[in-house]
Amino acid sequence: MTGESEFTVGSPELMDRIIKEYLPEEKGFQKIIFEAMNYSVCAGGKRIRPLLMYETYRAFCGREEVIRPFLAAMEMIHTYSLVHDDLPCMDNDLYRRGLPTTWSKFGEDMGVLAGDSLLGYAFETALKGYSSINDKDAFFKALKILAEKSGCYGMLGGQVVDVGLTGKSMTKEQMFFVYELKTSALIECSMMIGGALAGADDKRITALESIASKVGLAFQIKDDILDVTGDEAVIGKPVGSDQKNNKTTYVTVYGLEAAEKKVTELMDEASEGLFELGCDTSVLKSIFDSLVYRNH
Ligand code: IPE
Ligand code: IPE
Ligand code: MG
Ligand code: MG
Ligand code: MG
Repeated sequence: MTGESEFTVGSPELMDRIIKEYLPEEKGFQKIIFEAMNYSVCAGGKRIRPLLMYETYRAFCGREEVIRPFLAAMEMIHTYSLVHDDLPCMDNDLYRRGLPTTWSKFGEDMGVLAGDSLLGYAFETALKGYSSINDKDAFFKALKILAEKSGCYGMLGGQVVDVGLTGKSMTKEQMFFVYELKTSALIECSMMIGGALAGADDKRITALESIASKVGLAFQIKDDILDVTGDEAVIGKPVGSDQKNNKTTYVTVYGLEAAEKKVTELMDEASEGLFELGCDTSVLKSIFDSLVYRNH
């Protein structure tokens, strides 16, 4: 992707290549933290968030190099959230992306530090895009979205309530709050940044936020379904983690069948929202469709 001709349809493989270009070198006295960061990011993952960012950027006719560091930054922040989510003090899981979790491979201390480090490095990475965009206001807007959607009013806020209420009863209102923040926030972040960097106005960025909020909710409900019905070898993480931790989920409240129906409904609504954006969103639509039927 070093010129307009390479702004072709995205794929997890393309996202993977771009993300890896921005990973730190494994050297210096703190080498172990670079190893742990790279291990966590390179373990795999579907790269859904960078893909949504990239395809939103393309749909809004973005064609500048600035998108590349933001794609990598997005996946670093998502990976940090997973590294911390797996810690013994959180979901206490041993398996992620088909490999031992970061803390179980590098120790709990390095697990905490690797997550912290990925968060900070994500901002260092995004900042590398400053010289490759003409519209500096759009760059600032994108950075602001990245900070807000990952922080205590975004993903982290959702994790706080999720962890705080684990094993306790949770109202439906609290459950939707958790889903909106812990999962939708980073999906909103991805699509909003794609729009912002391509110069979309605030009205359209808000429309992207509302579409992505539905995608995020559907994505988390599907994750909860797969936690019950999934195949460990395919999802690359333990089945039954939620039950082990006595979590309230959409599945425990409404049942599996209603959960499947809700995923379809939400994704249909999200697709309608795409149509209203009035640009070519056919690739985004096909990503949305694939998310409904995903088995990992
Ligand atoms: C897992 O996200 C955490 C949730 C928000 C449900 P993904 O299912 O996107 O995980 P990877 O990146 O593919 O491993
Ligand atoms: C995780 O929710 C959301 C974040 C990491 C922000 P889960 O705890 O259900 O995610 P998995 O199932 O471990 O991937
Ligand atoms: Mg969790
Ligand atoms: Mg978890
Ligand atoms: Mg889960």
